[in-house]
Amino acid sequence: MLTANSRATHSPYPDELRSILSIRSADESGAWLSNWDQISPSATPLWDLPDAAEALGLARVSLKDEGLRSPLGSFKALGAPIALVRLILRHWHTHGLNPASVLRGEYAEMLANLTVISATDGNHGKALAAAARDIGCQCVIVLHANVSVEREEAIAFYGARIIRIAGSYDESVEHAANLAAENGWHVVSDTSYEGYEAIPRDVMQGYGVIAAEAISQLNRSAASQPVTHVFLQGGVGGLAAGVASYIWEHAGPRRPRFIVVEPEQADCLYQSAIVGYATKATGSVDSVMAGLACGETSPLAWKILERCVDHFMTITDDDAVAAMRSLAKGTDRDAPLVVGESGAAGFAGLSVLMRNPALARQVGLGSESHVLVINTEGATAPGVYGDLVGESAEAVLARQGEWQKSLEH
Ligand SMILES: Cc1ncc(COP(=O)(O)O)c(C=O)c1O
Repeated sequence: MLTANSRATHSPYPDELRSILSIRSADESGAWLSNWDQISPSATPLWDLPDAAEALGLARVSLKDEGLRSPLGSFKALGAPIALVRLILRHWHTHGLNPASVLRGEYAEMLANLTVISATDGNHGKALAAAARDIGCQCVIVLHANVSVEREEAIAFYGARIIRIAGSYDESVEHAANLAAENGWHVVSDTSYEGYEAIPRDVMQGYGVIAAEAISQLNRSAASQPVTHVFLQGGVGGLAAGVASYIWEHAGPRRPRFIVVEPEQADCLYQSAIVGYATKATGSVDSVMAGLACGETSPLAWKILERCVDHFMTITDDDAVAAMRSLAKGTDRDAPLVVGESGAAGFAGLSVLMRNPALARQVGLGSESHVLVINTEGATAPGVYGDLVGESAEAVLARQGEWQKSLEH
């Protein structure tokens, strides 16, 4: 399903949105995060996929590979840690704390009684747990019924206390808020709700690092025709808002078109575009794309998305799995890539549109288009990845290494 968003504008980036998300604070977040040893010191790769572009009928496809951002396995490593640092700076504002020292655990003794809590589908919780451990505070993570045991164990590995509920993701968000109120804990959530915006704003701001790196990598690349379309997968909308706002502020009225892709069973952003305000999904909110299985749009993210996302679309689980497999396979000119279930959704959405000439035309995609997609996770659930792709992530990475060596000869 595809819908055009009539509220999208190609104006300069509006000042009222700059007070929510801005290049200035995204760049500041990036500089602080470079002090955290869970983040790779170099930019994540921007892969050129010439064979995929040719097969799809496009001029160029560039893929930003967030699977390689951190041992945590996803772009979420950019969000929770920065929100936690900013929360600590706000709370202890008279102490003159240094953000780099916070991330290096130098105030652990002072912060030992601070407890943070969040509901999660997996990746956000893992990033929060790892940041809390390294900073030296306590972390409680609330998981809903559909989060796999594999993902639970990956979070528990970082020392978080896990609470499992029988209900959905949205119920886990409510449960976390109630526990925080009862115990004096701090919610560090990646989604906003009424009266709760500062922290999800900080989380989204961290994601701007992806856009900052992609822009400078594209500027340096030899065949640098401008990006015409950016595909962004949507859960609650935070990733899309963090990346799109940065690119929009940078490019102004000449910004590329943004297309948001969601699972058809968890279509809260698509539904929001139809009704014109942040609303709920219509489906079962259960998808192989676990990170995108969110039932409610983040109202704060929506403020950005409603103004700049040109099209919203949904895909099936099979579309995502097909994209994982084709990206894992690689070709003579395209590197084999480890792309997780939610990570593949942007490329899957692009493939769905290019298979249908009428849909491709509606979005203005054709032989002149240069498309940027973001792989937002590697094999964050390695067992699921192996089952779906028919090959382990290690085996795909080994083939990637051989592919790179073959280029050197
Ligand atoms: C791998 C992955 N990609 C994309 C998203 C979507 O991010 P958001 O919920 O901020 O829209 C998530 C969310 O958890 C995720 O884990």
